[in-house]
Amino acid sequence: MTKKIYPEALNLPVFEIIKQAAEELGVETFVIGGYVRDFLLKKQKAKDIDIVTLGSGIKLAEKVKKLLPGKTQSAYYKNFGTALLKNKDLEIEFVGARKESYHPDSRKPAVENGSMEDDQKRRDFTINALALSLNEDNWGQLIDPFNGLDDLKNKIIRTPLDPDITFSDDPLRMIRAIRFASQLGFIIHPDTFEAIKRNKKRIKILSKERIMDEFNKIMMHNKPSTGLKLLYETGILDEFFPELGKLQGVEENEGKTHKDNFYHTLEVVDNISKHTDNLWLRWAALLHDIGKPDTKKYHDKNGWSFHGHEFLGAKMVPKIFKRLKLPLNQHKDYVAKLVRLSSRPLSLIEEEVTDSAIRRLLFEAGDDIDDLMLLCEADITTKNKQKEKKYKDNLKKVRKKLIEVEERDKIRNFQPPVSGKEIMEYFNLKPSKPVGMIKEAIKEAILEGKIPNDKQEALDYMKKVGQEIIESNQ
Ligand code: CTP
Repeated sequence: MTKKIYPEALNLPVFEIIKQAAEELGVETFVIGGYVRDFLLKKQKAKDIDIVTLGSGIKLAEKVKKLLPGKTQSAYYKNFGTALLKNKDLEIEFVGARKESYHPDSRKPAVENGSMEDDQKRRDFTINALALSLNEDNWGQLIDPFNGLDDLKNKIIRTPLDPDITFSDDPLRMIRAIRFASQLGFIIHPDTFEAIKRNKKRIKILSKERIMDEFNKIMMHNKPSTGLKLLYETGILDEFFPELGKLQGVEENEGKTHKDNFYHTLEVVDNISKHTDNLWLRWAALLHDIGKPDTKKYHDKNGWSFHGHEFLGAKMVPKIFKRLKLPLNQHKDYVAKLVRLSSRPLSLIEEEVTDSAIRRLLFEAGDDIDDLMLLCEADITTKNKQKEKKYKDNLKKVRKKLIEVEERDKIRNFQPPVSGKEIMEYFNLKPSKPVGMIKEAIKEAILEGKIPNDKQEALDYMKKVGQEIIESNQ
């Protein structure tokens, strides 16, 4: 076999420094994983560099730290025999070649020293087991015992060992296979694919954080449906996100069918991903119909309906976020709100779009109104050109009205024009129920268009209706 040498992959000064440190310690050293893969794929060079040494990863890292110019942060994980250095925008991880399970996240700290090939065969995929030598005598030589280069050329994700072994070392690799397949546009080798199906139950032992890390990488791809479909087809999805899989299926009754809400959802996620990199807006698209399976009904006259699915869906959001350990505080309310309002803009059109309906929408959506409109547009997946045009035109009308009404009434960042304190002072009240009711009545009058959103008008209205509200509460 001819030797393949890629010194041009190693033109970052840091590699010379690692080489010098390794020589001083007298240990063979290699760069492996994503850095090598991405170089060979001619992608932008990764900032994460993984180093394997046939010695102590920690000792090597300590030496490299001393030799690196500038400020270097370091962390040493003695249990796992790994170390991490951060220098400028580089993150360099060091590990000693080992025989057993590779990943530092796995609970068993298996640190039995091994050869380079031992280490490579314990990695997730052949394309991630590619290594380049950092040693003087074969600087830049590709070390590829599992034909990773061929798999890279043929666009194949495949495990170096029997996939049952590779996946039992770290079941997260099953989701990583899907993530890499979608990110790189590769296919998963049939043996690896079948093993994912076979071992899917094992993902139960993983922390939700690790699963979500990979899942969100799939969600951030420019076409998330690629990975989502693979998650569904392998059965992995059902293991951690059964609500999504439940959307799949078309029922028929008396010749009437409804759309397949799973594949519709995937289209909506793809559509919105063309317009936004906001992960949570993508999540809103993913969950916008999540309440449908449990609200589905068949009516003799009108066929299938999903009444109230947006409300049920919005209620499901916090539960799903909690179970999947997603950031509860920052994003759950945003996603729930968008799910709850997801059908509103289009349904407004069914009747005349009144100013008050628009004001209510602006009031409820607040600053998220633009995101909501993006979601509604993405939700149009009909293949009937006439219908598509009709829906799009309708949304255009809503958008126009939103701008007009907002310019006039300033509802988007609605602040009650009369405060509770002012109400209490005027009517000589203590904090009590009527104060809130008067405030609410003023808000309602503005949204209904009885009075404009204006301080003086609101005060006049308060004087007019306040006494009656107080008396009705006595
Ligand atoms: N690795 C592994 N099993 C895992 C995670 C990682 O074998 N569960 C190995 C692979 O060799 C991988 C390397 O560790 O290439 C680095 O992992 P990571 O930084 O997660 O992935 P990259 O390959 O660098 O790719 P990306 O940066 O896209 O995540």
